[in-house]
Amino acid sequence: MTFPIVRMRRNRRTPRIRELVRETEIGLHKLVYPLFVVDGENVKSPIGAMPGCFRFSIDTLVAEVNELAQMHIYNVILFGVPNHKDDVGSGGYATDGLIPRAIAAIKKSVADMCVWADVCLCEYTSHGHCGVIENQTVNNDKTLPLLAEAARVYAAAGADIIAPSDMMDGRVDAIRTALDDNGFEDIAICAYSAKYASAYYGPFRDAAHSAPGFGDRTSYQMDPANSDEALREVELDLDEGADMVMVKPALAYLDIVRRVKEQFMVPVVAYNVSGEYSMIKAAVQNGWIDHDRVVMETLLSMRRAGADIIITYFAKDVARILNSQPK
Ligand code: PBG
Ligand code: ZN
Repeated sequence: MTFPIVRMRRNRRTPRIRELVRETEIGLHKLVYPLFVVDGENVKSPIGAMPGCFRFSIDTLVAEVNELAQMHIYNVILFGVPNHKDDVGSGGYATDGLIPRAIAAIKKSVADMCVWADVCLCEYTSHGHCGVIENQTVNNDKTLPLLAEAARVYAAAGADIIAPSDMMDGRVDAIRTALDDNGFEDIAICAYSAKYASAYYGPFRDAAHSAPGFGDRTSYQMDPANSDEALREVELDLDEGADMVMVKPALAYLDIVRRVKEQFMVPVVAYNVSGEYSMIKAAVQNGWIDHDRVVMETLLSMRRAGADIIITYFAKDVARILNSQPK
């Protein structure tokens, strides 16, 4: 059947009808808000290229998390930005490190906050790479036990979801084993499975002081030209015990999100990364685009592509936008 029997505009006639036939939605319970944690007290320092985002000391972090809970944002992912760095990233797996202390403080104050702990060494290493350096490159197998130890320490502190972002081979298996051997068999792993070597991480690396001191991350993160390879990465991580898989960045990789969602029946996470955030904020500051509409349209594109969950610096903006919409 076709026009004039079929009229697509009937389903667009009123806001109520449009709402009825809407296929995807943005719900706050599907969003994860990233938080940067620094040493010290009473610190809330703005991140230059990420307007609205801050680095928090643990005391101000707890206050922030309380505000998030009031806004009905119940998922956060933590990144440590320590003063002390060394060549093996020991701050990343120290029992009294920034992240375990931050996790414990959050859990004590807001017990039902779902705390994701990013696991990587680049914020803790003096050279800024995601693992141990040997012969000018990251040594995969020497990095694994350190990542596993970080995961164990974060789980012991109360983390709900362990999210390795290093892209070492076999890290999910190493982490799963360490968790299971220590009584954390119920703690989930969300693997950054298809993590690309992307220029969109620029603002994050400024925020987290984690830019590599030499070279780049192309020997461990994925080549932006590849798509089939992402499916292999996802398959391996699932075989090793990942409970959720992530595609990162999101916007330039929506085709990957879609392929992963179609091929594997598992929760798919898209990371709406720092550069994607900064581009929108910058255009808005120039008066070139409408902030609220562009933010929602962007996040919808990720849900439409197949993302179940979105990690996004826009989570607080979304809470405000959803609250301001007519009910
Ligand atoms: C570290 C890590 C990065 C991001 C999350 N974890 C950056 C990197 O690989 O350099 C990027 C997040 C963002 O850009 O918002 N392994
Ligand atoms: Zn890293």
